Amino acid sequence: MKVILDGKEVDAEAGRTILEVARANGVDIPTLCHVPALEPAAMCRLCTVELVEGRRSRLVTACNFPLRGEVEIKTDTPRLRKGRKVLIELLHTRCPDSVVLKELAERYGADLARFPDDNKDCVVCGLCVRVCERIGANVLALSGRGVEIRVNTSFGRTARHCIGCGACAQICPVEKIRIRDEEAERVVIVCGREAARIPLRPCSSCGKPFGPVIDLSLVMERAGEAQVPAFNLLVCPACSRRSHARRLAERHFEQYDIEPAPGGGAE
Ligand code: SF4
Ligand code: FES
Repeated sequence: MKVILDGKEVDAEAGRTILEVARANGVDIPTLCHVPALEPAAMCRLCTVELVEGRRSRLVTACNFPLRGEVEIKTDTPRLRKGRKVLIELLHTRCPDSVVLKELAERYGADLARFPDDNKDCVVCGLCVRVCERIGANVLALSGRGVEIRVNTSFGRTARHCIGCGACAQICPVEKIRIRDEEAERVVIVCGREAARIPLRPCSSCGKPFGPVIDLSLVMERAGEAQVPAFNLLVCPACSRRSHARRLAERHFEQYDIEPAPGGGAE
């Protein structure tokens, strides 16, 4: 199927989203709430484009709009640039220190002093909630309505069933989720509030706490792995690396029939 993308005729597979077709053809549409690994939710509206069908033109979100027929798509008109500029100015009030929003503001000439800061610490993109759901932990959810909507745990309590994987912190575009390892616990802080605490397992070699104590069966089932090597569950990455290095060195000494020095090196 053929579509017109910014004045150029391109091939598009039916069912593909406008964003997928645009990216496949080197056209950059800005996004904030989209990662290809998760189902699109069209929360931020930054990817809005103009869709022209016959004599009708309308605005649609590119990340979740599947192409069904031959249409014309405009991704960078003055109307769209103006809309994105205002959107960035408004999102910036919620997260004034976001690097991503500052970069977008520069690209679209947004005036970051236009609206007063609101400091909500979240742009409500929902990515953390979707990735948590995909992993199967279901710790985070969006609660509230309208401007009061926010990321929350069940009843706003510190979650005990979180697996401490850190996917939410990795995916947050405005970096408002932090993972902090304290003594023997991992703490997940979402938008300044403590969301979860997970006990950490001590390394069987050096004794330092290193990884969350969790039921891995769920993770393995989701990852499609038959099993996680038991060694990795008991030993911290540093001790694991040391042990591998030692084994490699021993093999090397055996191969060349070298006597290892008492301190660990070869003579
Ligand atoms: S905390 Fe981050 S990832 Fe989660 S909804 Fe807010 S901005 Fe998005
Ligand atoms: S990227 Fe499409 S609405 Fe956010």
